[in-house]
Amino acid sequence: MTTKELLLSPVAEPAKDAGDRITVVGVGAVGMACAFSILSQGYSSDIVLIDVVEEKLKGEMMDLQHGSLFLRNPRINASTDYAASAGSKICIVTAGARQQEGETRLDLVQRNTDIMKHIIPPLVKHSPDTILLIVSNPCDILCYVAWKLSGLPQNRVIGSGTNLDTSRFRFLIASRLGIAPTSVHAWIIGEHGDSSVPVWSGVNVAGVRLRDINPDIGTDHDKENWKELHEKVVSAAYEVIKCKGYTNWAIGLSVSALVYTMLKNINGVHAVSTYVRGLHEGLDYEVFLSVPCSLGKNGITNVMKQNLTPSERCSLKFSASAMAQVQQGIKF
Ligand code: NAI
Ligand code: 2OP
Repeated sequence: MTTKELLLSPVAEPAKDAGDRITVVGVGAVGMACAFSILSQGYSSDIVLIDVVEEKLKGEMMDLQHGSLFLRNPRINASTDYAASAGSKICIVTAGARQQEGETRLDLVQRNTDIMKHIIPPLVKHSPDTILLIVSNPCDILCYVAWKLSGLPQNRVIGSGTNLDTSRFRFLIASRLGIAPTSVHAWIIGEHGDSSVPVWSGVNVAGVRLRDINPDIGTDHDKENWKELHEKVVSAAYEVIKCKGYTNWAIGLSVSALVYTMLKNINGVHAVSTYVRGLHEGLDYEVFLSVPCSLGKNGITNVMKQNLTPSERCSLKFSASAMAQVQQGIKF
């Protein structure tokens, strides 16, 4: 008898999995920040990593596995074969090209659309009930691409969208006020990128709308120039990329928050990219953009219809038309 047989007296076969499998496609800076953030917070006990670069995949898997003792004993697997991802509750797609200094997110569109064609069909084949969470850029357009390629319903194709921009916005407002970011209620909607829309009309702390105490807030007439905070949100990624070559920690944390609210069926509200045609007056384009949505086990359960001002609606429409224009040029 082996040592194992001498030690263990079997009673029942262990269950094959814990039912909380998350697959991360792309083990670059972003994919690994997502995986690490999910594992270190104990949101999933079963992570599968997929990439095309076998050595890197193996190295990342082993490195994480060696931390199992400190991560509540999760299963961590990696493969270039999508069969390993079978039965995933959520598939996070972070694979593809990233911006070089000076490039915009939209510059990546055709390169990353071509990559999606190799990723989305096998993911859905092995996990037909999964939720696709698209992080690769341009996130809103690739969400539309993934929706088309997957044939999944709208509630199960989600872009990480402006959940990250919203976090940047709240951090900046909070820093100016000297209070905690979680105590600032503020939303960025629209494109995850240059045409994002700050909803200044709704920014509030403890129910006090900043626009009620400063009617010009967020506009060009504002003497305190709060508008610059949105400009800082838009330039944030460019600045971080200039300094360190890429962004990863904040997106990893923001994605893990989305994973938590979906896996645990919390129905928390986050700004994520979803199909928005018809949601607001003038939004007549077949595009994905971020708006506040509640998220649960089925993905998106509700979309919040915010009371936008005419100028906010106009900016959202501009964001939608910019997405539609880029989408027209995509070769599927
Ligand atoms: P990276 O270059 O570090 O990693 C990309 C990974 O994708 C590499 O490991 C590569 O081997 C893999 N890959 C390429 N083609 C693949 C394929 N066909 N199948 C599987 N894996 C494949 O890039 P990084 O920094 O991780 O960025 C990834 C993406 O995330 C970029 O598009 C970037 O713009 C985007 N991003 C999005 C954010 C958001 O808020 N939505 C925030 C930060 C980055
Ligand atoms: C970010 O906003 C580059 O989309 C990426 O960090």
